[in-house]
Amino acid sequence: MSLSPLQSRLAASLLASLLVFVLYFLVASPQLAAAQELDAHKITYNDISLEVQGQLYEPDFPQFDRSIIGRAPSSFTSLINNVASDTNVQINNTALFVFEISSVSVRTEQETAELRRAALPEEDASEAAIERRQSPRTLYISANTCQQPKRIGDNNNAEVPQLVLYISNSTDNTSPGPDQSAGKQQRLVFKEGAIVYNTTLRGDVYFSVFAPNVAADKFDATASPYSVQVAASIDEPYHSYSNVRRAELVWIDSDASATLLTTKNVTSSPSELLSTPPYIMFAQNRDDMTINGMRNSYCGLSKWAQMRQLYDGKSRIKTGLRVDSLTNMTRQEFYLDGLNSSSRYMGFLASYQEPGSKRDVPGGGGVVLRQTDFETKPDGACTVIFNLTLCDGLQYAAPGNTTLFPDSQSLAAFYDNYTQTMYSNFDKALQQVACDAPPEGQWSLVRNCTDCRRAYKDWLCSVAIPRCEDFSSTDRPNLQMRNIKAPFANGSFVDQALLDKYGDQLAYTSSRNPAIDLQVQPGPYKELLPCDDVCYNLYQSCPAALGFGCPVPGSIGFDTSYGKRNPDGSLSCNYQGSANNIPSAAPVSLLPPHGIFCFVLVVLAAVLA
Ligand SMILES: *[C@@H]1O[C@H](CO)[C@@H](O)[C@H](O)[C@H]1NC(C)=O
Ligand SMILES: *[C@@H]1O[C@H](CO)[C@@H](O)[C@H](O)[C@H]1NC(C)=O
Ligand SMILES: *[C@@H]1O[C@H](CO)[C@@H](O)[C@H](O)[C@H]1NC(C)=O
Ligand SMILES: *[C@@H]1O[C@H](CO)[C@@H](O)[C@H](O)[C@H]1NC(C)=O
Ligand SMILES: *[C@@H]1O[C@H](CO)[C@@H](O)[C@H](O)[C@H]1NC(C)=O
Ligand SMILES: *[C@@H]1O[C@H](CO)[C@@H](O)[C@H](O)[C@H]1NC(C)=O
Ligand SMILES: *[C@@H]1O[C@H](CO)[C@@H](O)[C@H](O)[C@H]1NC(C)=O
Ligand SMILES: *[C@@H]1O[C@H](CO)[C@@H](O)[C@H](O)[C@H]1NC(C)=O
Ligand SMILES: *[C@@H]1O[C@H](CO)[C@@H](O)[C@H](O)[C@H]1NC(C)=O
Ligand SMILES: *[C@@H]1O[C@H](CO)[C@@H](O)[C@H](O)[C@H]1NC(C)=O
Ligand SMILES: *[C@@H]1O[C@H](CO)[C@@H](O)[C@H](O)[C@H]1NC(C)=O
Repeated sequence: MSLSPLQSRLAASLLASLLVFVLYFLVASPQLAAAQELDAHKITYNDISLEVQGQLYEPDFPQFDRSIIGRAPSSFTSLINNVASDTNVQINNTALFVFEISSVSVRTEQETAELRRAALPEEDASEAAIERRQSPRTLYISANTCQQPKRIGDNNNAEVPQLVLYISNSTDNTSPGPDQSAGKQQRLVFKEGAIVYNTTLRGDVYFSVFAPNVAADKFDATASPYSVQVAASIDEPYHSYSNVRRAELVWIDSDASATLLTTKNVTSSPSELLSTPPYIMFAQNRDDMTINGMRNSYCGLSKWAQMRQLYDGKSRIKTGLRVDSLTNMTRQEFYLDGLNSSSRYMGFLASYQEPGSKRDVPGGGGVVLRQTDFETKPDGACTVIFNLTLCDGLQYAAPGNTTLFPDSQSLAAFYDNYTQTMYSNFDKALQQVACDAPPEGQWSLVRNCTDCRRAYKDWLCSVAIPRCEDFSSTDRPNLQMRNIKAPFANGSFVDQALLDKYGDQLAYTSSRNPAIDLQVQPGPYKELLPCDDVCYNLYQSCPAALGFGCPVPGSIGFDTSYGKRNPDGSLSCNYQGSANNIPSAAPVSLLPPHGIFCFVLVVLAAVLA
């Protein structure tokens, strides 16, 4: 029986493979004298192993190679591409690692071969493969601190010393560390528990992680030694941190026990749809210093952060995707409850592999994005609401009552129902205007009913659902006291001096929207007034027959009804889509109409009529 061409090629390959292997074994001394020679061997060796790949020799070649050659002393951890190693490091000690170039050549050439078999004619492909072999690759070395010595005692604000990474690419220094001379290695101190380094992969790379000495009266390094996760990759850094991904976390608003945060767009086009949220989040009270020193470390945050949202479903962090109704762009929202009042927190957006997927993949160590700070309000007068139906862009704290509406959802349902009722009344009124008439019959050539509906919606949402701050927040422009005659939740009342001064003014003693006083019964609160352009836009977009009007700055009623946007874009008044710490879009330039004004309550009444 004769061999088929494939079989004979295989046989030849096998034979060659064995020969080369023996040759390699004989020639390669532990010192590996000439690098060029070694490379030559490897090329042959790799080519041959390629040919048999998938047919006979699937078992791990690099492992075999290493055990025979036995170059790395046993105290080294020999790292494999994209496979992390977790290890404890006692103080004053060094954990040694090696990344052997031979551990990647085979595997990657196999991949190249598979690709070229699929895509290219044989000859071109081998040229491409040779070229690829000749251009050196980048090796990424990265590490995360997973545990650090615990602080001892109260009021201990001492910074935990950071781990140190030593790297050597020379066989003269195979155990880099603090006792080697500086000329033979590089020394890099971790930043907040993380390090990401890259180097050109031309030979084996030796590196180590050194745990520095810590003050024995400040830290307990015995019960809680340093622990580090180290990885090497030729694809991309296994661990990374900071602004490496598009979206960042934006704080929207808080109440006394909860907060809402969002990412920026997580999709790059309106047609892109996501089924699972791409990010997770960690948060920590700033008074608790446990994670200080590990704030760039995915491993550290995922083990120690006070609030963690891993894929275990048991978290105080709720998350979901929101598609903006105007732009169809998707954002990811995070709602955190169970927070302490008057507290400062730090939040971290992070990305990680899908649940259940393998960790041993490029980037498998996770990405930590820049820290976002947020704080909670002191009293319970306001409750963060979001996820409303009509006011779909609304996300901020509104006047609440933790007795009558114990959670955000129940309060949101109240405002949702209220605004929907108002809107449907408005819509009935609008239909009586020549709305669906052809352009000639419409009231305006520039604005139509779609514009009017949108303007009304934005206005209604901003006016009927006040953006609420606690009564104790410091006075500033556009912050209007409301409901000052009502008792606080603890039964006490607003200062008598304030009551004497404003107690007879409706704008101070009631909410703008009477349903709030009747049904929600919040205590005294302050409202961040809606921006006046929200009203002008309504006035300009809707038929005059509906009777909308806006107060002019300086007129009676303006100061307690609307605010003006700050030219610098900071949050100075309320509009749909406003957030706490992103500068809003440039102010809309709309000239206030003259001679017409009408109070909001009148407008609401007109709409109801
Ligand atoms: C670590 O080294 C420092 C100085 O070399 C020494 O003072 C300290 O006692 C050492 N600590 C431990 C736990 O070995
Ligand atoms: C080792 O690293 C240094 C820079 O740190 C570089 O200049 C040198 O070429 C490297 N040597 C090898 C063999 O890769
Ligand atoms: C390698 O690191 C340097 C800084 O140390 C950086 O400028 C460079 O972009 C990195 N290269 C790659 C391929 O990531
Ligand atoms: C999000 O997408 C919208 C619509 O394309 C765009 O106007 C906005 O600038 C984007 N925001 C960010 C932060 O990319
Ligand atoms: C928003 O509401 C929808 C249903 O109306 C719900 O499925 C989703 O979980 C809510 N999002 C959050 C973050 O609660
Ligand atoms: C958003 O999606 C809806 C429904 O798929 C579509 O009708 C609308 O045109 C889209 N809007 C934009 C701005 O892409
Ligand atoms: C709230 O405060 C208590 C006491 O200071 C603290 O133990 C707890 O961790 C805090 N909880 C949160 C979520 O900040
Ligand atoms: C009652 O609550 C208000 C606001 O939350 C606060 O300013 C006031 O000091 C409290 N009064 C007492 C007696 O605790
Ligand atoms: C919804 O609002 C209308 C009018 O404001 C009110 O009559 C009705 O009782 C509300 N329904 C619910 C379920 O709150
Ligand atoms: C209303 O005007 C906008 C442009 O301002 C236009 O895109 C839209 O199609 C118009 N709608 C109707 C129903 O005419
Ligand atoms: C909330 O509602 C309850 C029950 O109607 C009322 O006693 C209390 O004063 C209200 N206000 C606050 C701020 O809780």
